[in-house]
Amino acid sequence: MTDSASSGRKSAKKVYYPSNHFSQRACIKSFSEYQKLYSSSIRNPEKFWKAQASILNWFKPFTAVFQQKKKPFCKWFAGGKLNASYNCIDRHIALRGDKKAIIWQGEPEEDVKVLTYTELLQEVCKFAHVLRKFGVRKGDRVCIYLPMIPEIAISMLACARIGAIHAVVFGGFSAQALAKRINDSGAKLLVTADGSFRRGKIVELKEAADEALLQCKHVKRVVVVKRAGNKIRMKRGRDVWWHQEMEKKGVGNFIEPILMDAEDTLFLLYTSGTTGMPKGMEHTTGGYLVYAALTMKYIFDLREEDVYFCTADIGWITGHSYIVYGPLCNGATVVMYEGAPDAPDPGRFWKIVEKFKVSIFYTAPTVIRALAKEGEQWPRGHELSSLRLLGTVGEPINPESWRWYFNNIGKGKCPIVDTWWQTETGGILISPLPGAVPLKPGSATVPFFGIEPEILREDGKKAKAGEGGYLAIKKPWPGIARTIWKNPKRYVETYFSKFNGKYLTGDGAMVDEDGYYWITGRIDDVIKVSGHRIGTAEVESALVSYPGVAEAAVVPVPHPIKGEAIYAFVVLKKGKIGDDELKLKLIEHVKKEIGAIAKPEAIQFAEGLPKTRSGKIMRRVLKAIASGSAEVGDVSTMADAGVVEELKNGASFVQG
Ligand code: WT7
Repeated sequence: MTDSASSGRKSAKKVYYPSNHFSQRACIKSFSEYQKLYSSSIRNPEKFWKAQASILNWFKPFTAVFQQKKKPFCKWFAGGKLNASYNCIDRHIALRGDKKAIIWQGEPEEDVKVLTYTELLQEVCKFAHVLRKFGVRKGDRVCIYLPMIPEIAISMLACARIGAIHAVVFGGFSAQALAKRINDSGAKLLVTADGSFRRGKIVELKEAADEALLQCKHVKRVVVVKRAGNKIRMKRGRDVWWHQEMEKKGVGNFIEPILMDAEDTLFLLYTSGTTGMPKGMEHTTGGYLVYAALTMKYIFDLREEDVYFCTADIGWITGHSYIVYGPLCNGATVVMYEGAPDAPDPGRFWKIVEKFKVSIFYTAPTVIRALAKEGEQWPRGHELSSLRLLGTVGEPINPESWRWYFNNIGKGKCPIVDTWWQTETGGILISPLPGAVPLKPGSATVPFFGIEPEILREDGKKAKAGEGGYLAIKKPWPGIARTIWKNPKRYVETYFSKFNGKYLTGDGAMVDEDGYYWITGRIDDVIKVSGHRIGTAEVESALVSYPGVAEAAVVPVPHPIKGEAIYAFVVLKKGKIGDDELKLKLIEHVKKEIGAIAKPEAIQFAEGLPKTRSGKIMRRVLKAIASGSAEVGDVSTMADAGVVEELKNGASFVQG
């Protein structure tokens, strides 16, 4: 071992302790304080959650903390009545009416809007009136297909106010993907925008919505926000403008929040799984909100004067829990940004931090890698001294990126919270508490209060320290999704059947001798491309739907910026020729079927796919071939071992 390698090894093992300065003012000030509270949360969860539920205002107290009559289904805070929009807005008005709730930065620098809590209340109430007028009632689904503009938060909270269930669809999804989600949710009203700005160009959202709606006959009303001013078609009798509806007679500045049961559904959010159609994860009003609010407060160590900036899109769970519900429930000031991280240049996020004096910054490893590649001059060119805490989410963070983030953005003084969680979990399950838990770069560290993770072997027995295995969670917590919309059977099978009622995360992980968790990534057929969750089955069925394609298999390959990229093996029907032109056509087709986030980085045409004798595609073998590994492992169960050599010879390069 050379000197530099050994010092590299040492620094890789370096533990970063919270500074006294940070710990003294933090919610949780020491590791022993964390341990004490953690063990009481595990020893007596009902007592713990009963006390913590007071983070919300309840119109009527709950009668039971936790109920599980039919495992694995569960209820939290049953009998309790509350309203999410009341908790996120109304209750702050007395003390924080003039406090900024949302600071919105459009992609064009001059486009800035600020909404105080009082103004937010007014906008939310007005839009709730509009929804009511169009016949939206408690339990109805409203689909929201909007860019990162204040109206996305306003419409979510307006739904919550009148008990409608929102289903936000990420603006980067295609018309086809939107149509699938609208139809599954049964939404009868859609909120969208004419367009939005990304890298100076207009994203034509309304056009995509129009195309989707050709397949969604039960959507009777479309409310369109004027954002980009691009020319669009308005369908008479169906489409109305947001700004016109908001000014109509009868649209008052206030509307009573309705009483929701703790277990009433607050929203659906679609996420990709191993097979088939994306799953509409159902989150509740009481448990979800308690969990989002509490994790926000402790993990981001929230203070009254903080300015909090999360770069996620609200179309994903991160935006739901940590741009809208978590921060607003705590009365925080949230910065929201419309555009791309590199528009007009790779200093954009740092410019936003400087401009609004952001104190907490939360982003994804892929963003850090992409911006680090651009060089240190970008952060150096901006005043970042307002920052006091950094966060990351979406995929494992490699230690080099962690250190780049720590040194160049946090200037060595801001703790980094590496937060592990999922759409299904509602909120963060494993993360440091920044004033209490020493950090190890690349580890999400320790479980949050009330969370009992386990690393399991194939046979369900617990793995030893240092031994990798399936990451499972032993018992339910308030934020867990209660079911899959219209598909409780799939919920049980996907998450609870493998390990006897324990929640299966789909991730692999390891615990070290200090009890720190190291997440190694998905061990099912889910790919994390730039932190976005893509189901291999969805991409495969998109490929197979193209004329001339007989079969397709999709696997992840490591990618320096995206973390993972999509590599597709495509078998064509007899007589079809696989050339570069067809590759481009297939990529275009996947974009059309799902969205640009799902496009394959590389396509390899193949004569056949490696299969077991029972006909199952051997993804393990394909993964090895795609990443150029000479060793494909044991192929003794393969039906036709000759396929491997042919595939190896045809391996294509992944463009960086
Ligand atoms: C998957 C969930 C929940 C926020 C956004 C993603 C991966 C998430 C981490 C982390 C390692 C992480 C896991 C997980 N993941 N955070 N800090 N370290 N991996 O939500 O789209 O539902 O994806 O993201 O693989 O299962 P999601």
